[in-house]
Amino acid sequence: MMNADTQRWPDSFDFRKDLLCQTRFKPYILKQLDLLAAYDAKRPAGSTYIFHEHARRVAQDVKNTCLYLNLGETVAENMYWAVLIHDIGKMQFPPEIWDSDEKPSDNIKAYRRTHTEKGAKQFEKDFGDTDHPFKRLAAEIMRLHHEQMDGKGPNGTPGTALSAPVRLAAIVEAYDGWSIPRPHFDGRDTSPPAVIQRIRTEKAHMFDLELLESFAEMKLSLYK
Ligand SMILES: [Fe+2]
Ligand SMILES: [Fe+2]
Repeated sequence: MMNADTQRWPDSFDFRKDLLCQTRFKPYILKQLDLLAAYDAKRPAGSTYIFHEHARRVAQDVKNTCLYLNLGETVAENMYWAVLIHDIGKMQFPPEIWDSDEKPSDNIKAYRRTHTEKGAKQFEKDFGDTDHPFKRLAAEIMRLHHEQMDGKGPNGTPGTALSAPVRLAAIVEAYDGWSIPRPHFDGRDTSPPAVIQRIRTEKAHMFDLELLESFAEMKLSLYK
């Protein structure tokens, strides 16, 4: 459910100075990234979409977009740490389900997409004794990052119920997924301009278009 402090950009705490963030959330996140790297190591040698690398790229791009939008360092850092763990639910599946030479079937895709709810439940359980705006932010991003503005995401959440942090995470995370060449992409162009153009033309219904353009400006300004 939405709550007051996640409808807007997270500025009610500062991850870099907050005691609970530094003493509990940060070590947890770093440990989860190590576990994700170990999980990636169990996947086939040829896999290109490496989850712990994806997590760091997405977090960095989200942070850069926040800074580009002048949301300030605090929001940018808070978002960075929350996004780093968005896919930890993937580790609850056998590692072999992620890599296939063919385009995955809708069934497989839907099954894989439950990593959102699985991750959020695990995270909320691991911090069951804690109430903190970072916990709500990270859980919301974990749970909703594959939802769509047109309401046709895996859980059917309507776009009006998606907060700005979730909308931005959804854009950046999808962009990253589409910019990593995979066997079933059949050699299509995965350069930043091509991926952004493809999102604008074929995937626009999924995303917040204003945030998409801000992200695109930020990303393309770095690509020369
Ligand atoms: Fe995901
Ligand atoms: Fe992701």
